Amino acid sequence: MTTKIFVADKVAEFVQKSLNKLGEVLYRPTTKAQELPELIQDYNILVVRSTRVTEDTIKSATDLKMIIRAGAGTDNIDIPKATEHGVFVCNCPGTNSSAVAELVIGHMICADRLIHQTTETLKKGTWCKTKFQGSMGLRGRNLGIVSLGYIGKLVAKAAQGLGMVVYAYDPRKTQEIMDPWKITKMETLTELVEISDVVTVHTVLTEKTKHMFNEEIFKRFKNGAIFINAARGGIVDHTCLPKIVKEKGLKISLDVYEDEPSTTSEEFPQTELAKSITTLTPHIGASTKQASEAVGEMTVEIVQTFLNEKLPPMVNIKNRELLK
Ligand code: 3PG
Repeated sequence: MTTKIFVADKVAEFVQKSLNKLGEVLYRPTTKAQELPELIQDYNILVVRSTRVTEDTIKSATDLKMIIRAGAGTDNIDIPKATEHGVFVCNCPGTNSSAVAELVIGHMICADRLIHQTTETLKKGTWCKTKFQGSMGLRGRNLGIVSLGYIGKLVAKAAQGLGMVVYAYDPRKTQEIMDPWKITKMETLTELVEISDVVTVHTVLTEKTKHMFNEEIFKRFKNGAIFINAARGGIVDHTCLPKIVKEKGLKISLDVYEDEPSTTSEEFPQTELAKSITTLTPHIGASTKQASEAVGEMTVEIVQTFLNEKLPPMVNIKNRELLK
């Protein structure tokens, strides 16, 4: 029987071509989360990027065997419901990490040197050399990384290339694991932020990490430190940011937000918050051609593995028998 594959988000062009050879593909990159329950009904594989896959969708998809997250984070998918219905959930960990790490380094340099702000001032016709002479500079400064996974390690290496000294807070990693990376382990988040000139967070969003960056922890930062979040918006309590920026002169760089618009060109309602932030990007950490190609290759590989009745790497079900 032909496998029916529904692609609900934009993927690299070659992915469509490759998937076409593996099954019958509906490529509908503008699909909205609320349309999925009706559209998904007789499909076997669903490929999504950031489109939400809700309980309704999983319940309606009676022939669904697998959901592939063409990316790393799976918090847009109702995984408990998928597991309950015997639907495999796979992701493509590590494939877009370089792109995210590159953006983090970009934010760090832009926040320190205020490149965007100087650009705007020059565009308005003012030579602003004296005004922008107060950057701290990165060589010899301390970088604190929260969670040392694929992205955290890439950021560490790039920052060391700039002469930064790297520390990490990751309860799952020992000092021995960090040694080859020349990173010093910090036992608590508080210790990490107290020693860091720049803090970047790369953990997943869970009940435990929700609002792990709140007013209390920001108060422990060094004055004038840079804070970067390109992981998930919910890790940071955004409500305290304007106050903390004012009090401690922190420079905040964000790529992710709580309650992000779900489709492109939608309004960004958090303009008040945005005014207090130094650099902002609209969740484009993974949005490079290189990342899209790497994610696409893994997506196709997962489909191939599945069709060959082998077990692709999964985030929920470990036992193929569950599908029978
Ligand atoms: C991810 O989880 O892979 C990144 O946050 C990128 O997400 P996106 O594919 O929705 O841009």
